Amino acid sequence: MTTDRPVIEFDHLSAEYAADPLGVYRGVRSRCPVAWTEAHGGYWVASAYSTVFAASRDDKTFSSKKGRHGDIDYTGVVIPSEPSLPLLPIEVDPPELHPFRKVLNPAFGPKAVARLAPEIERFTAWCVDQVIESGEIDFVEDLASPVPAVATLLLVGLPVTDWQRYSRAFHGLAANAPGSAEYTEALELIHSIAGMARSEIADRRLHPKDDLLTTLTQAEIGGRRLEDAQIASILTTTLGGGIDTTTALIANALVYLDKHPEHRTRLATDDAFMSSFCEEMLRYYSPVQGFARTVTKDTELGGCTLQRGDRVFLSWAAANHDPLAFEQPEEIVPDRFPNRHTSFGIGSHRCIGSTLARAEFAVVVREVLRRMPDYTLVDGAVPYSNIGTVNGWHRLPARFTRGRPVGATS
Ligand code: HEM
Repeated sequence: MTTDRPVIEFDHLSAEYAADPLGVYRGVRSRCPVAWTEAHGGYWVASAYSTVFAASRDDKTFSSKKGRHGDIDYTGVVIPSEPSLPLLPIEVDPPELHPFRKVLNPAFGPKAVARLAPEIERFTAWCVDQVIESGEIDFVEDLASPVPAVATLLLVGLPVTDWQRYSRAFHGLAANAPGSAEYTEALELIHSIAGMARSEIADRRLHPKDDLLTTLTQAEIGGRRLEDAQIASILTTTLGGGIDTTTALIANALVYLDKHPEHRTRLATDDAFMSSFCEEMLRYYSPVQGFARTVTKDTELGGCTLQRGDRVFLSWAAANHDPLAFEQPEEIVPDRFPNRHTSFGIGSHRCIGSTLARAEFAVVVREVLRRMPDYTLVDGAVPYSNIGTVNGWHRLPARFTRGRPVGATS
């Protein structure tokens, strides 16, 4: 064990990071698999696969909790921490986490996603119908943003007609720096959504339906029904987890395929190839770049001594490009196998929506490649200026040979 504290210049929310995340991590990793930055009040950055893996699997030492407990101010899962109540279930540690996952898991499993698939396909075809005769599309606005929003709303049971409101709110939160006007506006929108969700919760208590909201109103944890505030918190996490993340994954894949049209025909028809391609897009672009933990007791990680109360940023993105874990880590290998990426997290909080995200990805990318097989991106693409939360795009305009609508209903 060493008490050395290698200090690095690092801020996952900075413009330098957004411009070259792989280069930044290359530099950081070469210094130390775990290093300290003074940004945002100071935090450790875990950048090697081994350290990210070890910390993610040790909830007792690396806590997702938020708020003051004993003499520690817990950060929750984002740095800088938001002045709000802990989000359920993502900011709860085991064993309290387990009953929440038990209630939630069936609604996100393969059977539930298979039931949603026809609606996701129909809505995707409808989105393409809206633009197919014009020969022009903004892949983010017209497709990659609406589809995950609608799919997530369908899953939870909120009205899908409001998808733009949800999409704007979570897009705004992910794409802008904490403290900016856009970020504050997005936060206000999310609070108003949480208020609106309460009337839906009241409705489900009286009129149960076949949706996650109803499951939550009927669920008991520790012999007690969930309170409205707990259900609203789970909804916020689910919407936040489900909407902008998958948008970013799809958008980055369409950027890659713009430069690599040689994969298009095979992807449109070969499901196994689509599946490995999706995993490689997840690995390479790491839609969620990292999440934070708070250290509960003095410990050692990657040769450094971390102290009780310290904060750590577990970088999924850095782990995904660690040369000790992946061959050619900075190359995109569409049929890479095995591909043990960390993009859905590791351990007890591993993404509950991964099956849904993969399904949406395949539906949208296939629909694009079948109906606009010759698309090319045109001027006007705008990446997020801050990718430390979600590595996404604001705009992605493209042109393609015009086609005919298939008459899909929304
Ligand atoms: C490409 C898409 C996605 C990515 C990259 C992603 C990434 C992640 C990651 C890294 C975590 C782990 C958090 C942690 O360890 O602290 C997570 C958790 C979570 N995700 Fe996703 N996610 C995606 C899609 C979705 C979807 C579609 C949904 C729901 C509709 C969703 C809902 C959640 C929820 C509720 C959690 C918290 C689980 C828990 O705390 O036990 N995610 N996600």
